[in-house]
Amino acid sequence: MDTAPALQLDRITRRFGAFQVLSAVSLRIAAGERRAILGPNGAGKTTLFNVISGLLAPDGGRIELFGADITSAPAHQRVQRGLGRTFQRNNLFPGLSVRENVRLAAQRQLGLAHRMLVRKPERAALDEQIESTLRAVGMQRRGDDQAGLLSYGEQRQIEIALALALKPRVLLLDEPTAGMAPAETAAIVELLAGLPRELTLVLVEHDMDTIWALATHVTVLQYGEVIADGEPAAVRADPRVIEAYLGA
Ligand SMILES: Nc1ncnc2c1ncn2[C@@H]1O[C@H](COP(=O)(O)OP(=O)(O)OP(=O)(O)O)[C@@H](O)[C@H]1O
Ligand SMILES: [Mg+2]
Repeated sequence: MDTAPALQLDRITRRFGAFQVLSAVSLRIAAGERRAILGPNGAGKTTLFNVISGLLAPDGGRIELFGADITSAPAHQRVQRGLGRTFQRNNLFPGLSVRENVRLAAQRQLGLAHRMLVRKPERAALDEQIESTLRAVGMQRRGDDQAGLLSYGEQRQIEIALALALKPRVLLLDEPTAGMAPAETAAIVELLAGLPRELTLVLVEHDMDTIWALATHVTVLQYGEVIADGEPAAVRADPRVIEAYLGA
């Protein structure tokens, strides 16, 4: 049994010039948790994800993934250890089919750089992984469609598929429903709710309905500081949170 937290941050700090973006952020996220991170624009949410995923170095503090210190591990090593993420913006190859996009991500996960070199047993495993990834996001019938011609919401769904193809144990999702129509948001919520329970989700989200539908725990960030942390109902009732973010 894994008793170490899936993700633990201990006093993470980061500055941009004189501007303190993250001030001693500590978080402890248990395996299987659905953690929402919420906070006003500019609170430091994406910066926090960049530090966790290794795209930005922290100035101080420590990061552990399932008990292993990854504070100075390169980003690709964190991916190999089971840390996945999606980005606030789209990253698909628009001219390729949905399946080809998933295939490229899955090949990377299997360490297969060139399609020409894929041997038969590996090819079968790869094909199975691609199809199960498409099924996981409800896109099994859309595999042949050109990625760039899908709706915005569907493209974001494929983004999640690409992250899942890397077989993460912890998945960071940066505003997965941003800019979506209500029906598209509902599709993403359903997709995320249906992911395996052992997969730990950390979700930056502005949409309150999505947070209340998915999150088992909520962390509120303001000016790079954690101002509240706990179960959704408690955070929702926290006077500091109401004042800082939720409004009257
Ligand atoms: N590379 C950078 N250089 C300088 N300042 C930066 C850099 N990246 C982010 N910032 C600043 O740090 C602050 C936090 O940015 P960040 O993107 O982490 O916020 P956020 O909480 O994700 O906001 P949003 O809700 O708008 O996505 C902002 O004031 C931003 O302008
Ligand atoms: Mg952001």
